[in-house]
Amino acid sequence: MDVVVERPFAAPRHGLRRADPCAFVIFGASGDLTKRLLLPALYNLAAAQLLADGFCLVGVARGYLSADEFRGNMREALRTYATAKTTPETLDRLLSCCRYVRGDFDDASTYARLQAELDDAARAGGTHGNCLFYLATPPDLFAPVALELGKSGLAREEGGAWRRLVIEKPFGFDLASARALNRELLEVFSEGQIYRIDHYLGKETVQNIMVLRFANGMFEPIWNRDHIDHVQITVAETVSVEQRGKLYDHTGALRDMVPNHLFQLLALTAMEPPNCFAADAVRTEKLKAITAAHLPANDRVLADVVRGQYTAGPVNGKAVPGYRAAGGVAPRSTTETYVAMRLMIDNWRWAGVPFYLRTGKALGARRTEIAIKFKSAPFTPFRDTPVERLTRNLLVLRIQPDEGAALHFNAKIPGPKIRIENVRMDFNYKDYFDEAPSTGYETLIYDCMTGDPTLFQRADNIEAGWRVVEPILRAWRQADGSDLAAYQAGSDGPAAAGELIERGGHEWRPIA
Ligand code: BG6
Repeated sequence: MDVVVERPFAAPRHGLRRADPCAFVIFGASGDLTKRLLLPALYNLAAAQLLADGFCLVGVARGYLSADEFRGNMREALRTYATAKTTPETLDRLLSCCRYVRGDFDDASTYARLQAELDDAARAGGTHGNCLFYLATPPDLFAPVALELGKSGLAREEGGAWRRLVIEKPFGFDLASARALNRELLEVFSEGQIYRIDHYLGKETVQNIMVLRFANGMFEPIWNRDHIDHVQITVAETVSVEQRGKLYDHTGALRDMVPNHLFQLLALTAMEPPNCFAADAVRTEKLKAITAAHLPANDRVLADVVRGQYTAGPVNGKAVPGYRAAGGVAPRSTTETYVAMRLMIDNWRWAGVPFYLRTGKALGARRTEIAIKFKSAPFTPFRDTPVERLTRNLLVLRIQPDEGAALHFNAKIPGPKIRIENVRMDFNYKDYFDEAPSTGYETLIYDCMTGDPTLFQRADNIEAGWRVVEPILRAWRQADGSDLAAYQAGSDGPAAAGELIERGGHEWRPIA
């Protein structure tokens, strides 16, 4: 992630260097992630002339396909999922460098064939021996593939060539499994070779949190417990579990969203300014913020955490069946599709400021935002307008879908008397920036290829996230579903979540 230049995928192409030449090896190349996101993102990078001439794409999968058939499938995928109209020239350029290796991921001969293909690509296309292994596989294959890469010598960096491993979420199922996975990966690759993706960090508006805070002089002086009353972080989705029932039923909203996406938003909001924009400076500050986060009391977790599950209801006018009726979901499942919690951050800046987090599926609107509520003015000189009746200032960072930021403050209603109303100053991304359509993966992939890990999760960041939610997982196991609250699909979530925040004297911003 380069700070001084324009983002790569907006129109300007000057000022950015092309990524290093490399072989981009995708394990699980016939899967959905490759078709829907990776390939369209690579296409956008090719169109922006950010791929090196020596770039080549190597698909590894189990299906019996010729290289030509693989290229045909990739062409078809781009026809369906490209984010902009494709041009034949760029399409042909990208597809002509596609190679395919068939094989089982636990079979040493697959890796021998991959090695031969990579040697050939280095000779023919000039990858310089650089190689990025992208694991677009189910999570139980992350460690086995990494181990095979180690055994076959493919993870070794020799003669100035780099080798990198990219891992998608879920990174572990709890703290113990995340630690175990980190241990296994680190037996083969060094920390500097591992790029753990959280796709929220690929979102422009998420990266903008740092710019808003640290590239402006006016926010930081008031960004603390002296001026901020509380913070609300919301990731509300209208989608239900749809076809993912079987997988989701073992995961639930907490594991799926909180230690990763929501904690990234929390860390960017709460972190101290890094000394510089170097990857480890940023990641260390984020780590400190997550490490300081905790539930108010470990012995009464359920007082500060609410879990919910949606029942049938209309979402955007369409009937959505209840969660338990979704394919692959156990009929008496107690898996949560909604979670809300109150966290405190134990440090000088945030002591006493609650951070309320909530996320859920099948809610009334899609909305990801961070709302920062400021404290009341200490005194009002306006007669008949006691300070309690004045609305407190609010800064809302809208992450998606309607990207921007709004500052809510009090203003005088025109007229002979002093009457006060809350007004809103609004910034909309689309009014200022002409952003090219993107998948959100372009920056992340470009950064992997240029060796910039700023937007990727270090092992310690991942483990810190799991450590915060571990008491919740434990308390839920003991409660055995007794605290699960129902909410109707299309609503703002369970009533218990409203009670949770009201106990602190606050209220949620409406979702819909
Ligand atoms: C994924 C979760 O990581 O993020 C999904 O597994 C969720 O359940 C998705 O729907 C949300 O991503 P976005 O970019 O649509 O907010």
